[in-house]
Amino acid sequence: MKADVGVVGLAVMGQNLALNIARNGYAVAVYNRTAERTKKFIEERVKAEKIIPSYDIEHFVASIERPRKIILMVKAGTPVDEMIEELLPHLEKGDLLVDAGNSHYADTNRRLEKLSHHGILYLGMGVSGGEYGALHGPSIMPGGSLEAYRMLQDVLTKIAAKTEDGPCCTYVGNSSAGHFVKMVHNGIEYAIMQSIAEIYDIMRKILRMSTSEIGQVFEEWNKGELSSFLVEITYKIMEYMDEETGKPLVELILDTAEQKGTGKWTAQAALDLGVPTPSLNVAVFARTISHFKEHRRELSRVFGEKSRVTSDKSLIKDLEKSLLLTMFLSFSQGLWLIHEASKAYNYNIDLPEVLRIWKGGCIIRARLLNYLGAILKENPENINLLASNNAMDFVKEKLSSALKVSSIARESGLPTPVLNSSIDYLFSLTEENLPANLIQAQRDFFGAHTFERVDKEGTFHVEWQKLE
Ligand code: 6PG
Repeated sequence: MKADVGVVGLAVMGQNLALNIARNGYAVAVYNRTAERTKKFIEERVKAEKIIPSYDIEHFVASIERPRKIILMVKAGTPVDEMIEELLPHLEKGDLLVDAGNSHYADTNRRLEKLSHHGILYLGMGVSGGEYGALHGPSIMPGGSLEAYRMLQDVLTKIAAKTEDGPCCTYVGNSSAGHFVKMVHNGIEYAIMQSIAEIYDIMRKILRMSTSEIGQVFEEWNKGELSSFLVEITYKIMEYMDEETGKPLVELILDTAEQKGTGKWTAQAALDLGVPTPSLNVAVFARTISHFKEHRRELSRVFGEKSRVTSDKSLIKDLEKSLLLTMFLSFSQGLWLIHEASKAYNYNIDLPEVLRIWKGGCIIRARLLNYLGAILKENPENINLLASNNAMDFVKEKLSSALKVSSIARESGLPTPVLNSSIDYLFSLTEENLPANLIQAQRDFFGAHTFERVDKEGTFHVEWQKLE
């Protein structure tokens, strides 16, 4: 029996994806660099599934039906290149390699180019949903050639999460489109996570709510417009008790947030493409600042006590609206970035399709996506969603709450970077005259960088002061 698909890399994500594929009726060949892990996987997790283990790469490749379809589930970065090098001598023209990790889109372009010279097809495929999603249905974002996608389309749509709008998998676009979209998904993920954390901070420090009370509020919110995976896990986290101490575990976790790079890459891509994504960018810096624990400890002493404004529980309604506003604007900024990247890199991405496949399986799945999808369908040119009266009304209806929350946090010395930058993003985009005229004047003053005028065509420079 030959396998329909091969999976390389048997860390938990790889194991779960292999099992998911096998449980959908396919025979799966598996290979891991260390044989021990493969043995353990076969012994402990494989039951009736058709899974063919291999302990050397040659045997692994030979055990797959031609043209071969091999999914790489290895750590992003050098391990992907190393695995490609290892596989390459055993592959034949027309075989397909799929990188399902969180690879940087530039790496994906480079690998696509290299493999095309060998006649090997390649997909850069974003997969979201964590370990659970990999096993029970992730959101899948494949990019590359349509021909390559067609080779694996049936498998991918079968293993993907399903919503009432179909499987959460679509051909995202050319070259590295899949990894780009997954990267922006993560950029949005960072912003939403940070927004939720900011709201949590206000609840515990200003409203002086217990962890359990905070959990109850998030649970309630999850039944309404804020319904989303990230809000859902937040209330579940609040409920989780540490066995050793009997305290909510979240209270015992050190407040330094880690990152593996996708949020940072999103910010870098936005800066490179000249797209404003401030809420996404400050969410990365919030994690960076969290890392300076010792420094923060020292400076908190130097700064001294912060007076916390008090507020009553009626603020909870405002917190809910605030979070809806930041969620909306985080999605809005991410979509704009994808749109500009699609033009700049000829990805040819269908944005409503991206929103559709984010509705299930992935980390940023949220009820709000139905609404965003509807706005975009109405006017596909509305790339940051704000150019619709309906959407603007939605945002404006949340604004006074967001301003109230932001101001209470400001007065209390509490950082709410995503909330504040979202508000400023909205204010900036809705301001016809920005003070950038002064910036231009300053640039021209010290560097003769020239400026344009509002009253006539052309490029101008003046001698702002007489040089002696
Ligand atoms: C997903 C997640 C997943 C991973 C993140 C975590 O969509 O399933 O985004 O890809 O958990 O990469 O990223 P950080 O370690 O940078 O927070």
